[in-house]
Amino acid sequence: MEKEFNWKELGFNYLKADFNFISHYKDGQWDEGNLVEDDKITISQGSTCLHYGQQCFEGLKAYTHKDGTVCLFRPDQNAKRLNESCRRVLMPEVPVEFFLDACRRIVKANKRLIPPYGSGATLYLRPYVIGVGDNVGVRPASEYIFGIFVTPVGPYFKGGMAPVNFITSDYDRAAPMGTGAAKVGGNYAGSLLPHAEAVKAGFADCIYLDPATHTKIEEVGAANFFGITKDGTFVTPKSPSILPSITKRSLLYLAEHNLGMKVEERDVLIDNLGEFAEAGACGTAAVITPIGAIQHKENKHVFHSETEVGPVTRKLYETLLGIQAGDIEAPEGWIFNVEI
Ligand code: PLP
Ligand code: COI
Repeated sequence: MEKEFNWKELGFNYLKADFNFISHYKDGQWDEGNLVEDDKITISQGSTCLHYGQQCFEGLKAYTHKDGTVCLFRPDQNAKRLNESCRRVLMPEVPVEFFLDACRRIVKANKRLIPPYGSGATLYLRPYVIGVGDNVGVRPASEYIFGIFVTPVGPYFKGGMAPVNFITSDYDRAAPMGTGAAKVGGNYAGSLLPHAEAVKAGFADCIYLDPATHTKIEEVGAANFFGITKDGTFVTPKSPSILPSITKRSLLYLAEHNLGMKVEERDVLIDNLGEFAEAGACGTAAVITPIGAIQHKENKHVFHSETEVGPVTRKLYETLLGIQAGDIEAPEGWIFNVEI
């Protein structure tokens, strides 16, 4: 199995899996779902997901532990957030147990693609809900698909656990009372141009500021922001227009309970980055990516270093990954076993 892939070389790319999970919603209910080999779906050209962005998605990972067991990290939290997104764009919810069962089924069916312990790669699961069926007016669909595909992945940002630089964007990712807290595709469509401009300017991605005042950090591309103050407090932005990251919530817990740090969710002013000794981006795909520097207008602020990972960021990374890989005892209810 290990010979088939060069796990260490994997980036964050799509690779056709052996099986995909598909469930249809019609007449007010989800069918039990099927594992299918075909990774193409046929939908009406009038589908609301194509025209009006009526869709949402999730991202989570399966990890192989040292003893060979395969586990999902907090998938119940993804189920909960998927349903929050569904409610925001008027789609039917996916029952949590159904979601968890579908995740287990698809991981088991794609056993061949699960990276081994210690490889640095994981199996990424991408659940989604889309509005389908014939339609043309702006209204919610009458039919839906809940699907999951999987693909083995390595680091999202090149270099993995190495500092990268970001630049603030003049564009907004979300509106104050918009859909920023939901994981809906429209948020990402709007991010493509700012992302491309940031990359063109030589940065890994852009940082979005709060849409109302452009003075506070909201998101780091498709990840949340955290900073470590000079007196060792873990700080992360609080705002109704950022995606409530499961990784961020996990780090808040681990910083406080495992590392004995003070933690704060509050405003992070872009003009006060000097309060932080270290900073990072966190998310399922990004894991923990140290931020070397942030460019804001003419000012470039360097945190710990543009080449070296700060000590607290490293400790957070080791703790989080240790838990996900099963090497450190997890808080109750965080690890879901998959019978392979
Ligand atoms: N922010 C955005 C915009 C994201 O797309 C993601 C990825 O899911 C995150 C933050 C991190 O969230 P999580 O830790 O739940 O993956
Ligand atoms: C994730 O971290 O799972 C994401 O969804 C971020 C990005 C790849 C969209």
